[in-house]
This record gives sequence, structure tokens and C-alpha cells, in this order.
Amino acid sequence: MSKRILSCMQPTNRLHLGNYLGALRNWVKLQDEGDNQCLYGVVDLHAITAGHDPAELGQATREIAAAYIAAGVDPAKSYIFVQSAVPAHAQLQWLFATQTPLGWLKRMTQFKDKAGKKQDLASLGLFGYPVLMAADILVYKATHVPVGDDQKQHLELTRDIAQSFNQHYCDGEEFFPLPEPVITGPATRVMSLRDGTAKMSKSADSDMTRINLTDDADTIAQKIRKAKTDPEPLPESVKDLESRAEADNLIGIYAALSDQNKETVLQQFGGKQFSDFKPALADLCVEKLAPITARMRELMNDPAELDSILKRGNDKANELAAPTIEETMRKLGFWS
Ligand code: TYM
Repeated sequence: MSKRILSCMQPTNRLHLGNYLGALRNWVKLQDEGDNQCLYGVVDLHAITAGHDPAELGQATREIAAAYIAAGVDPAKSYIFVQSAVPAHAQLQWLFATQTPLGWLKRMTQFKDKAGKKQDLASLGLFGYPVLMAADILVYKATHVPVGDDQKQHLELTRDIAQSFNQHYCDGEEFFPLPEPVITGPATRVMSLRDGTAKMSKSADSDMTRINLTDDADTIAQKIRKAKTDPEPLPESVKDLESRAEADNLIGIYAALSDQNKETVLQQFGGKQFSDFKPALADLCVEKLAPITARMRELMNDPAELDSILKRGNDKANELAAPTIEETMRKLGFWS
């Protein structure tokens, strides 16, 4: 049976190496496997849940779409769409919101991280964010969702929402398939370059903590040179990386970028100093990212072409999503 693959990213700030290695690269692999049908969204409705600049949202949306294509998502094989252009996402979110207990949402660690100590000031949209994400996935009845490790809990919630709906309104029939998370590779959780215990993130204050897909070669080399490490040489075995978060992170990045596992990377660099390893890592990063950055620039210079790719994706997404809304409303007993 062919798989239906769905995944999305928010147009908030620039994409970084974590987004690329944890998710985007796997999107491209899945697109080129078997007869998968792939849909990749730019989730702009999610991007307005925690404050945003209206002057930048539209351009940021195009930039994310450009990054998808530059990284290898082929608009002739996959559909790239914009969430706000497919009203079914917001519609299904409301239907699910009425069926989701608050207790399930209160467990979400990402809300707690994002809202911090000021939970009462956070928006209802930020709190309900995982329900919109469930709608993004289930409105297409997606079977597989390639994401980084930080989205695991949201995927579990999506499965709970689907299962509960199937049980209550469909006599247990699998109306909504339970989507499988696809979290694979040596870099499912890329960490900050300055702190091996914090995730590499778009929102961290210092730009030195992350490598952006738009960074030039000098910036990448400088960020890697200044990345936090420890004084020991690199170990010979993966087991010895366990208590060395920063070393583990850099080895994981090298492994992912060179399509190897960490063992093989340590066969090459075990016993060497970071002063030997870091320049090799910087060269590899530049080699892999420079073509993506260049292609992104080209695409951004042709907004009409980008918009026509997105229009095709939006049309297909609307076509696939509309029957799900109709059937879901029928199951819920709405007048028709
Ligand atoms: P977002 O925009 O924060 O991140 C996009 C993707 O990048 C992955 N990622 C990482 N992977 C490895 N290491 C990191 N440091 C790292 N940081 C981010 C994320 O896991 C994600 O796969 N809620 C989602 C967007 C979303 C979505 C969806 C995803 C909305 N609807 C439906 C899948 C399906 C998010 O905020 O991703």
C-alpha cells in the first residue's frame, strides 16, 4: 500500500541545521521511495501563536518553501502547500478542539517550554497548537509523519485524538489512520553549539548556537570553531560519547551530513583533538549547505515561480482535505 507522507515547518525565523538533519532530509528520502504521496506544508497559522511581524510573514512563508525545494523536495513529485490557504485545517482543528480534554494539552512539554513562567499570558492558540497540528496530519489521513525527536509527544497526541474520534463516532472503524512518526538518522535531535543539553532552536537568543541554512562559509566555520567542547580527545567508541553531550552532538552532525553512522565517524576521528575535527566538520557543512543556500537565493529571486508551485500544492491540498471535513461533520451529526 502506498504511504501518505505529511510534514510541516513553521515560517518563524530562518531554518537551521536541526530542521534540515532532523526532518527535511528525511522528507526528500521519503519522496524518492516507492510510490509514496508526499505533502509538505508551511504552517503559517502556527507561526502566529506566539507573536509575529505581519510585515515578514508572507516573505518568511516563501522562504520556507524555497528551502524545501533547495534541499531536494521536488515540486513535480511532492505537493508543497501553505496551511492558511487550506481552510480545512482550521475547521478540523475546531472540531477536534471540542473533543480534546484540557488534561491532554496540559501535559505538552513544548507549551510549558514556550510559555515559560508566564502561562497566563500565553495565547489560547499556543495552548491549542498541538490540536491544529493533529488537524494538519489527519485532514489528509496521513500515514507517516517525518519529524525531529521534539515532535514525538505531539504525534502521540495526534494518535490519541484520532483513536478517540474513531471510537466515539465511527464504531471503532479506522476512519482516521493512526499516523506513524518517522524519526530516523543520527541527528534526530541536534543540540545547540553552545550548550549540549539545549536543543538547537530558531528562537535561541544567540545566533552562535545554530547554523542557519542561509549562513555563508565563513560564518559556518566561525560558529563551528567557537562551538563548545571539552578538553579530551575524541573517543574511540560511541559508548564513550554518552557523558559528553557536546562531542556527541558534533559527531552526530558529521555522521548525518556524511551519511554514515557515529561508529564509522569515530573510526576516522577517535583519538584526535577537536582542533583536527572541527575544520573537517566545517568543510563538510559548507560542502553540503552551500548548494542549498545558493539554490534558495535563486528561488527567492523568482517569487512568481514559487507562488505558482504553492498554488498547485494548495489546490491539491484543498482537493484532498475537503472530503475529510465533509465526512467528519457527517460523523459528528451536523445538519446536511
Ligand atoms: P518546527 O517548525 O519547530 O520544526 C520543523 C521540523 O524540524 C525539526 N527540528 C529538529 N530536528 C532535530 N534537531 C533539532 N534541533 C530540531 N529543531 C526542529 C522538528 O522536529 C520538525 O520536524 N509543530 C511543528 C510544525 C508542524 C508539523 C505539523 C509537523 C505543524 N503541523 C504537522 C509535522 C506535521 C514545529 O513546530 O516544527
